[in-house]
Amino acid sequence: MEYRTIIEPFRIQSVAPLRMTDEGQRRAALERAGYNLFNLRSVDVMIDLLTDSGTGAMSRDQWAALQHGDESYAGSPSFELFRSAVQELFPFQHVLPTHQGRAAEKILFSVIGGPGKAIPSNTHFDTTRANIEYTGAEAVDLVIAEAHDPARLHPFKGNMDTAALDAFLAARQGSVPAVFVTITNNSGGGQPVSLDNLRQTRDVCRKHGVPLFLDACRFAENAWFIREREPGQQGRDVADIVREMASLADGMTMSAKKDPLGNIGGWLALNDDELAEQCRAMLILTEGFPTYGGLAGRDLEALAQGLKEVVDHDYLRYRIRSTAYLGEALLRAGIPVVQPIGGHAVYLDARALLPHVPPLQYPGQALAVALYEAGGIRGCEIGSVMFGRQPDGTEKPASLELVRLAVPRRTYTQSHVDYVIEVCEAVAARASALKGYRISSEPPRLRHFGARFEPLG
Ligand code: F0G
Repeated sequence: MEYRTIIEPFRIQSVAPLRMTDEGQRRAALERAGYNLFNLRSVDVMIDLLTDSGTGAMSRDQWAALQHGDESYAGSPSFELFRSAVQELFPFQHVLPTHQGRAAEKILFSVIGGPGKAIPSNTHFDTTRANIEYTGAEAVDLVIAEAHDPARLHPFKGNMDTAALDAFLAARQGSVPAVFVTITNNSGGGQPVSLDNLRQTRDVCRKHGVPLFLDACRFAENAWFIREREPGQQGRDVADIVREMASLADGMTMSAKKDPLGNIGGWLALNDDELAEQCRAMLILTEGFPTYGGLAGRDLEALAQGLKEVVDHDYLRYRIRSTAYLGEALLRAGIPVVQPIGGHAVYLDARALLPHVPPLQYPGQALAVALYEAGGIRGCEIGSVMFGRQPDGTEKPASLELVRLAVPRRTYTQSHVDYVIEVCEAVAARASALKGYRISSEPPRLRHFGARFEPLG
């Protein structure tokens, strides 16, 4: 007998309290925060869906692994364990541990970036884009056209537009030091990339002599989608699919705060000896000695264990299903969301839900603030607040206005998610009354983290 209900493949061994708040308390918190949800104290948030990054629950075995941490400055066995766990899935020659993903990006781009250079991706994540632009290089998004339509169904909506990539590499010969593929495509809705598309991307890169890098934060979720959706991949071991994805690339950056199930961590891995040497020199300058990078030995141990747990099929079946559970309920309630439902998050389409709010009055921000006010749920605007400010200082609407409800790994139960669904329904029912915002102050870069807002009308 196959049952319909997919249960969490774990039981809860340790709990943390949620502080219940009412609307009045939340309105006051919003005012103090300048209507920027990044400025809230987390104790004022009931269900925190701001990110799936570093917010997951570690397993019993990960906590036990912490005790094995060897904190030697050089040559720690914890590093060897970490490196073999990484290479078991991503057999790259050199593995450089960093304190998180953006540190790996910073090191790599400070070596290969610079003015006049361009680095294409399906869609760059915001820190990736910012680290590229900080060096004076250009970050270019070349995702397939289907990705720009939130309601359009496509099994691999994170795919690279390989024809556009081919044309781009031909036009910018000599100025592209690497091509990136983000798996899953976070900024494009948590959508997967197919093995077939990775292969084609690799072929285009080979043709132009440009190395291919993976931004692989959510590699296991991507591999699960491949197993579920790509012809010929059914029944395959996920770890095997991951190794095949890695075999198509020359290197990777990683935030271990996502699929490696850590609360902190990352790495840069690559095959090129000379580039690795240059990056290692930067690693020592900015992170630490190459056998710990930006991490403690105990973190390396926890990540090595997390990498084993994340490719477990029961875990991934539950993980992908629980995100879809939220997305499908919202769809049934008539709330527009990016389709198909992504791996780590559900993305509400704020442009469709709030058509009366113009892009530069930030419909995504208006919706995110309303969800917090109504139910203490913290999501994240991914739209014109995040992407609207251009490197030349002008402002222009982003291609999508989304609110991401990211699901931390192994953290919330189904009744938490049922509550989120109920709050979303209540807010959607009065969407036409929601007003836009203006930005009253903003930092020079990555403005979404620090901007303050004022409600309009
Ligand atoms: N690349 C992608 C695709 C990401 O989603 C992130 C982080 C990074 C790189 C940077 O990694 O945070 O460890 O420095 N994404 C988080 C998020 C913050 O909420 O999506 P990091």
